[in-house]
This record gives sequence, structure tokens and C-alpha cells, in this order.
Amino acid sequence: MNVINIINNKLCEFSINRFKEMGKKKSGLYGYYLNRAKKRMIISDTDIYLITYIYENIGKNKIICELAAGLAQTSIVLSKLGYQVNAYEIDSNRLKYAKDANVLLETNVNLINGKFQCLDTKNCDCVIGNNLANGINGIEKDIKILKKWIHENIIIIINAKLYGKIGNIKQILDENNIKYQELKNDFIRI
Ligand SMILES: C[S@@+](CC[C@H](N)C(=O)[O-])C[C@H]1O[C@@H](n2cnc3c(N)ncnc32)[C@H](O)[C@@H]1O
Repeated sequence: MNVINIINNKLCEFSINRFKEMGKKKSGLYGYYLNRAKKRMIISDTDIYLITYIYENIGKNKIICELAAGLAQTSIVLSKLGYQVNAYEIDSNRLKYAKDANVLLETNVNLINGKFQCLDTKNCDCVIGNNLANGINGIEKDIKILKKWIHENIIIIINAKLYGKIGNIKQILDENNIKYQELKNDFIRI
């Protein structure tokens, strides 16, 4: 999709300039994002898979909520494609990046500085998450929340390999008799 290339190029340029001005931490680029900007891959291959899957399978009338959005690169592309998107990110430096990028790209992502566990299900039809890993969270702690979302008929599309560092999501879903569909690139749809 051409729109992905255009946004990726703009975000890489924006990131490099921001890093020069603000440094690694304040820019929000610490961790793997600085390398990604240098490699011109702020939007990663798994982000592209997720965006393409949503575009091909989820109607534009559905409200998308991205968990642990990071720089919100995926949410920004989805907003550009016409989706209503809420993005949850706990880190204030990353959220500031996302807010500035949202203005730069003229997109309309509703950026929420908070834990995704507090997600407002009234404004959500489809939850998405690519890399949710932070070493603290884990599927064991979130299984009750996942069950609540499933009960409310929310579509959940997440990367099973990168859900926190603790626990195997597929095993825990099996143990809880929760059905899911395996997609490509380690994503599952519940
Ligand atoms: C490894 S980064 C990946 C970001 C993004 N999903 C991506 O794939 O580019 C994980 C992000 O999750 C955020 N995070 C961790 N726990 C969170 C929580 N409970 N609620 C919201 N954000 C969270 C961190 O601040 C960090 O930006």
C-alpha cells in the first residue's frame, strides 16, 4: 500500500530530526525505534501485516483500539485509511511523539495516555496489539480482561508471540477453552 510507504518515510525523517533535537529518551525513540528509524522501518513488517489484515477484513464502521501503541505508527496509518482509532500508550515520551506525528500526518488518532487494561469498551469494536512486551505485563494477569472483551463480542487481533514476556497466550487460551484463529506472522484472532 502506497500510503504505508509515504507515512513510513515521513515518520523516519521526523524521527531522525526529533532524535537530534531531543535525544533518545525524550524523543520517545529509545529501545528499538531509533534503529528502526535508521533502517527506515518505523513501520515494521508485522505492523504492515496487521494494517493489511485490518484493511481487508474489518469494516471501516468498526472502532479500532490499539493496545500499547508505542509511537502509534500503526494507528496513524489506520486513521489515514479512514478508521476511527483509539490508541493506548503508557509512556508519556512516546505519547508526545504520537501526538506530534498525528498533527504532522494530519490524522485523527485519539491518543490516550493510560494503561490499555483500562480500555473503554463502549468505544471499541476491535482490539489490536502488535508488540505488547514490556517485561512486566503478561497474559496471566490480563486473562480476566480478555474474557470480558470476548464476552462483549469485541474482535481481538494480537501478536501471540509478543504479549508480555511471561506466559504463552495460546496455551492459556486453550486452558480457558477460548477459541482463536491463527493468522500469519504470529498473530491470532479471538
Ligand atoms: C515493545 S513496545 C511496542 C510498541 C508498539 N506496539 C509497536 O509494536 O511498535 C511496548 C510498548 O508498550 C507500552 N506499554 C507497556 N505496558 C502498557 C500498558 N499496560 N498500557 C499501555 N501501554 C503499555 C510501552 O510503554 C511501550 O511503548
